[in-house]
Amino acid sequence: MRLERVAAHVPAGARLADIGSDHGYLPVALISRGAIAIAVAGEAGSTPFHAAERSVRESGLSQLISVRLADGLAAIEPRDEITAISLCGMGGEKIRDILDSGKARLTGRERLILQPNGGEQALRQWLMENGYRILFEEVLRENRFAYEIIVAERSGPVT
Ligand SMILES: C[S@@+](CC[C@H](N)C(=O)[O-])C[C@H]1O[C@@H](n2cnc3c(N)ncnc32)[C@H](O)[C@@H]1O
Repeated sequence: MRLERVAAHVPAGARLADIGSDHGYLPVALISRGAIAIAVAGEAGSTPFHAAERSVRESGLSQLISVRLADGLAAIEPRDEITAISLCGMGGEKIRDILDSGKARLTGRERLILQPNGGEQALRQWLMENGYRILFEEVLRENRFAYEIIVAERSGPVT
């Protein structure tokens, strides 16, 4: 349910970079449904990277999903022409750090779909300081946990 709610905020036809993709379920689900054009699954860990590679290979979608072993936004290359970035299932501070250290790879035209596990305040602060407006947010409860989803786009100064 958590990843389904994240998926609902990825614009139709997007070119998605899912950073910290782990098993690669989000890009595989969206490409299988024809909901997005292409995806990059970025992973910093070698075990999850191999898990994502396996999911993509078994889904037969290797032409449309690139799995890359990379730290944060370093998985994104200019030729990808990414229009949406998802960062899910990590602490808000970690998501903030990935965005901040990878700023040079952001064009400012990407929609950010963020699902922090705690630490939302630090992330909100970063979004505000970097001119991102929060378009939508929701909190959902799955099993015993509450998950927040924040959708943001760069818009100029925000208070
Ligand atoms: C708990 S999993 C979440 C997986 C998936 N995004 C989800 O929401 O179900 C977090 C993943 O982020 C990856 N990760 C952590 N730091 C990262 C970084 N700097 N760059 C890329 N991936 C990272 C970890 O290896 C791990 O697979």
